[in-house]
Amino acid sequence: MKKYLGLCLIGAFLVACGGQQSSENNESPIPELENFAPIELKGKQLIAESGCLSCHKEREKLIGPAYADVAKKYENTPENISLLGGKIITGGKGVWGEIPMTPHPQISQENAEEMVKYIFTLTP
Ligand code: HEC
Repeated sequence: MKKYLGLCLIGAFLVACGGQQSSENNESPIPELENFAPIELKGKQLIAESGCLSCHKEREKLIGPAYADVAKKYENTPENISLLGGKIITGGKGVWGEIPMTPHPQISQENAEEMVKYIFTLTP
């Protein structure tokens, strides 16, 4: 008796799976935008929000050095990211000339480092 039940189930299975598979629905999904935001965009936004652009431009010297020149001068290492991040907060002088950079104590080290990471993407 059990044997017949088994055969029945197999039969039902074959019928259920034997239907034609539709292969028309193969549109590629649009990549999710949240996953697409590169880390440097955050730094770019922070720089735009923090008033840095009144003294710095990406590619031209203004009052401070062009960010592209900063990226050229320093190697992209974790040490330099934390060093330059610290300098954004405490200010600096004498590396690029006699004009000092004003301190930005309201910026966290973490956000300052995001900005440096972005600056490091600007190498020519
Ligand atoms: C008042 C003008 C001014 C503002 C505002 C300013 N900077 Fe600067 N920045 C300078 C000057 C001038 C220098 C060059 C200092 C030197 O010669 O050591 C400099 C240098 C730097 C350096 C290179 C430091 C080094 O030691 O090589 C980085 C990185 C930097 N600025 C990032 C920023 C960021 C990010 C902001 C915004 C939070 C900012 N700066 C805001 C004027 C400014």
